Amino acid sequence: MPWPSSLQPQSGELAITRSFSAAATGVHDASLDGAVQRFLAQLSRQTGIRLVPSIGAPTTLTIEVAGKRESVQRLGEDESYELTITPSNAKLTAATPLGAMRGLDTFLQLIQINSTGFAVPAVAIKDSPRFPWRGMMIDVSRHFMPIDVLKRNIDAMAAVKLNVFHLHLSDDQGFRMESKRFPKLQENASEGMYYTQAEMRDLISYAYDRGIRIVPEFDVPGHSRALLTAYPELSSTPGPITLDPGGPDLALDPTREETYKFLDKFIDEMTHVFPDEYFHIGGDEVDPKPWDSNPKIQAFIRAHGMKNDQDLQAYFNERLEKILAKHHRTMIGWDEILRPDLPKSIVVQSWRGQASLAVAAQEGYRGLLSYGYYLDLMWPASQHYEVDPLSGAAANLTPEQKKLILGGETCMWNEWVTPEVLDSRLWPRAAAIAERLWSPQDVTDVHSMYARLDQVSWWLQWFGVKHLSAKNPMLQRMAGTYDFSSLRALADVVEPIKDYSRKESENPRYDFRAPRNRLVDAVTPESVTGRHFNNLVQQFLQSGFKDRAAEAKIRDYLNSWRDNDIKLHPLLEQSSLLQEDAPLSENLSALASAGLQALYYIDQAAPSPENWRTQQLAFAKDAEKPIANLLLVVAGPVQQLIQASQMH
Ligand code: ACM
Repeated sequence: MPWPSSLQPQSGELAITRSFSAAATGVHDASLDGAVQRFLAQLSRQTGIRLVPSIGAPTTLTIEVAGKRESVQRLGEDESYELTITPSNAKLTAATPLGAMRGLDTFLQLIQINSTGFAVPAVAIKDSPRFPWRGMMIDVSRHFMPIDVLKRNIDAMAAVKLNVFHLHLSDDQGFRMESKRFPKLQENASEGMYYTQAEMRDLISYAYDRGIRIVPEFDVPGHSRALLTAYPELSSTPGPITLDPGGPDLALDPTREETYKFLDKFIDEMTHVFPDEYFHIGGDEVDPKPWDSNPKIQAFIRAHGMKNDQDLQAYFNERLEKILAKHHRTMIGWDEILRPDLPKSIVVQSWRGQASLAVAAQEGYRGLLSYGYYLDLMWPASQHYEVDPLSGAAANLTPEQKKLILGGETCMWNEWVTPEVLDSRLWPRAAAIAERLWSPQDVTDVHSMYARLDQVSWWLQWFGVKHLSAKNPMLQRMAGTYDFSSLRALADVVEPIKDYSRKESENPRYDFRAPRNRLVDAVTPESVTGRHFNNLVQQFLQSGFKDRAAEAKIRDYLNSWRDNDIKLHPLLEQSSLLQEDAPLSENLSALASAGLQALYYIDQAAPSPENWRTQQLAFAKDAEKPIANLLLVVAGPVQQLIQASQMH
């Protein structure tokens, strides 16, 4: 995952033994040499085998690269590769070290354990990406993410062939980048949590080594409370301004020359840290109030023949674009920036709907799709997987217009996400989006995707991400006990509520400093157990109750859930963090009892009594309602079992 553009299985396999070796024979540079060294270390980590290459023995994996890569990774650089594995050796060829890196990660994913040891299957792969821009955006403003957290996620991104890391570095809740020219940004607006320029340069070089560009975003003129906390003189509304949540929305004052002087100097400084050609200026969700309530700004609008605030934002963006161009940067922004006054060189990132991407392309602008790829909405991977940058309105574009769609970015907004929680919000679901952006458009089979995603999920652990391993310590913290297996059983069948319903339910809505230590924070957005249980129920029902193996597994699950509440209840009661989950645990046991009773009727070939069914269905329907911001995912399949016990 992502599935390659062409794959021909061959017969046999190549054994991975302690004498495994890899060497680059063609053109090589430090970037490729580093990639080969990391590959060998990774192979060793995955297999637990310490490699002891024997001198003079033939190389197992030969890597031949035709040319060097750019010193600053460029959009559209060749990432194609060919990988041929036979029972005696393997060969990887690529036009650039970037392609070689992609091929090395494919090789690592092919390693399997079997009855004789570790091996990769013999195979001939020809592969290249469908889209040149395959990104992940992480919001580090709402919650600061330390460098080591970013690095392990860069490793996981590279493992699934994502190639752009977009850092949302400023917002209302914090300014996360050190400026030497404007030091109040980090001194007054970061609570001490920011990246120094040295740290950022190191991170950029770390990402470059893994074939990933870093695109910085500094959000203006809205989402700028942090910036304005440091420099209130640039605000459209008078101070005092603080980082505290819950205050009015703010915006930069686009009518003052000082605003542009600040941005010019700041951008100049940042271009010496961030070498990427693209520079993200945000531009989303500018609240009209700060401009509407300022008579000077309204007078400026009238004096310049503008009609409204949108015209004023367009004026601001035009001036900002000229500043970026002067510093040799291409402007990228959220879809609100799309206006005909801007040059065709800019890139529009579509988040409010797929239509804006098509509109941008029709007008000659390049674009990226993020609508449908918001991981903070807690959707299942299948829902993201269905979204294609060239579907919807974009499907009707001309071939020339389609070329303007560069790809997409998955986005993770972190109001609710601490460093401890981040990995589980990204992985494994982001791998399904990575496949959508890399693989041919006709790779759409959801069952195949999930079968591979389950594998990739644990494989990614070898790259250091903690999406699976963070769960147990968090559960143990809540339980305060050594044995928390009954809590784990409940945690495995609940999911956080979807979309932004958590935001609506919490008070205060945006308290980004609140503890994130409840069950909703520890559980994964998509329950693997829930999906497996649901598949078993579908299998059993579709077989006309004949699939005994599926039934036995369903019964095992139901028996363990029925008996879980008795064990879990005392734990829930003794923990202030878990008390709110008691009704979930009770519902799980009651649902399991109902499911077992339904199986009993089905096995007896005796239709269940109607009043029993009505009562149980009403209860199971009720058990779908969120409790403590959590959904019990087995309620749906249990309802189907109850329905089926009607037997006709
Ligand atoms: C956004 O989600 N406001 C870009």
